[in-house]
Amino acid sequence: MTYIPEDILQSIREAADIRQVVQEFVPLKKRGKNWVGLCPFHSDNDPSFTVNEEKQIFYCFGCGEGGNVFKFLMKIQGLSFKGAAKALAQRYGITIPERPLSEKAKKKKRLREQLIDITQAASTYFSRLLKESVSAQKARHYLEKRSLKDETVESFDLGWAEESWDGLIRFLEKEGMDLGLAEEAGLIIKRTNAPGWYDRFRGRIMFPIRDHVGNIVAFGGRTIGLAGQEEQPKYINSPESPIYHKGKILYGLFQNKAAIRKAGLGLVVEGYMDVVSLWQHGIRQAVASLGTALTEEQARRMRGVTKEWVLLFDGDEAGLKAATRALPICYKVDLRPKVLVLPQGEDPDSLVRERGRAELEKLLKSAVSGIDFLIEAGKTHFGTDTEGVLKTIDTALEAISMVGDSVRKSLLVGNIARKLGVREESLWQSLKERSQKDRRLKRPSPASNTAQGASSLSRPVARIGNRAEEKVIGFLLSYPQYIERFMNLSLEIWLEDSTLCGLWDAMTHIHEMTGGLNLTELYNNLEHAPLLRTVAMRLASDFPPCNDVEIMVKDLEHYCQGRKKQALRKQLLQQLRDQGDSEDCESLLKGLLSLR
Ligand code: UTP
Ligand code: MN
Repeated sequence: MTYIPEDILQSIREAADIRQVVQEFVPLKKRGKNWVGLCPFHSDNDPSFTVNEEKQIFYCFGCGEGGNVFKFLMKIQGLSFKGAAKALAQRYGITIPERPLSEKAKKKKRLREQLIDITQAASTYFSRLLKESVSAQKARHYLEKRSLKDETVESFDLGWAEESWDGLIRFLEKEGMDLGLAEEAGLIIKRTNAPGWYDRFRGRIMFPIRDHVGNIVAFGGRTIGLAGQEEQPKYINSPESPIYHKGKILYGLFQNKAAIRKAGLGLVVEGYMDVVSLWQHGIRQAVASLGTALTEEQARRMRGVTKEWVLLFDGDEAGLKAATRALPICYKVDLRPKVLVLPQGEDPDSLVRERGRAELEKLLKSAVSGIDFLIEAGKTHFGTDTEGVLKTIDTALEAISMVGDSVRKSLLVGNIARKLGVREESLWQSLKERSQKDRRLKRPSPASNTAQGASSLSRPVARIGNRAEEKVIGFLLSYPQYIERFMNLSLEIWLEDSTLCGLWDAMTHIHEMTGGLNLTELYNNLEHAPLLRTVAMRLASDFPPCNDVEIMVKDLEHYCQGRKKQALRKQLLQQLRDQGDSEDCESLLKGLLSLR
């Protein structure tokens, strides 16, 4: 992410002429000191949209929309502040400099690069062994037994780790690699009773795990039934490391992303072998969360590729549990999950091998929506007496409560009502109670709700413009550990105040580079933007300590959510006007309704 220093923004402001920019979108006529035209932000018959060149602002007397040239571009093109600034910089020939990283960020980046070099080298080593080494005969035989073709082995860079305590170590040493770093990458383990290290993966087929840009960041290693391996776990995986965060990565996503996007459908399976084997059978659409429950971050990654996903689960109780846990997360990030329960005793790999691609594709067509699955599974599992139905309703509502789009939500509620024979109103009531309970759980009792608590905050925050924005940024500067929770609230599209917007920009930049927000780092980075720096320092020092941070966070999140919705709604409205009566209108309208 490029960060735009304040002095460059200043040059853009000076260079850009609002009338020129507006006139590319709106025909303007001179009237007195101003220029006027039909407002592009509301349906306007009588020109009420005014541009004042002297002040470099626009204002609409009809709808009240107004601001500077940045704001105009943001609104009319649905750009972020940064996007608008970049567009203007380009138009007026201003170069946005690549910003130098801070020392700490540089170090971190360097470490990541070094670790990735090592995992990459290790992967090359494992692959070569699998292809060439005599000791890999057993491994090649095993893969043959599992009918994996060479092309598949190569596409997933499968490898072989020898049955030796130091095969990899010797290789890395020969390559002049730093063994301390190899340990940090999780490839080798420090000996406890002697100096030195030993290889983590021994006598295993190696599955390199790639991050979303394709770097190899970790491995999974599978036993092949050698003597002595019976007692060992079937798979072992690299531990978490500066380059590998398990909860953020999906195995196979990098390789299959394009095909998933093209098909408009992805599959979530359980294991390495499932992904690889489906790929070999021409179903290049699977990703695996590798033995852990699906996380929200993984679901967001999926969402970035397509909304439609089928989750493939075993028909046993563990499968039901996994589905019950994964579905609310999917709904929360606006996926449209379906579920396919596999025939008893099968996994995607065995199924596609035994019955073929066509059969699996047929089964996939029979996948049911996540909510239908919860209802059906609930009926079977909890029974159809009153208590059972109540439990089923509870699991289904848990998932529905996560749905953001109110049209979808309402369709889903109607669906449960029909299938379980309950009145819709009582389901809505129950959803409402659920959200109130959630809120109560996160709020302390009124007695402990003192001066800095929720009530003192929520009202002013909701009402005042820039003071509230200041509060959000001030809070995040005082409690930087919470910044992650605000990252998807799109502050960049709705912060009115350009200083605060620039500050937010710098904060997210730091977070992206370092994975956190360190104030010293921020101030160093703002060295060339004295205004931002001063404001940052003032906001950080002026922010009063709060005695219930969690309440504060909730309130601020709520506020930001509202602003985000409002901003998105305006964008949609604009698109609607632009679209006229085209087919997309329906989906835009739906989008709009969901933002009410
Ligand atoms: P499975 O036991 O279903 O293995 O575990 P699998 O994927 O079908 O593998 P094959 O077909 O026997 O080779 C599913 C996933 O759970 C994780 C792995 O990510 C595996 O792919 N797992 C399983 C482990 O991490 N450790 C284990 O010991 C077992
Ligand atoms: Mn399997």
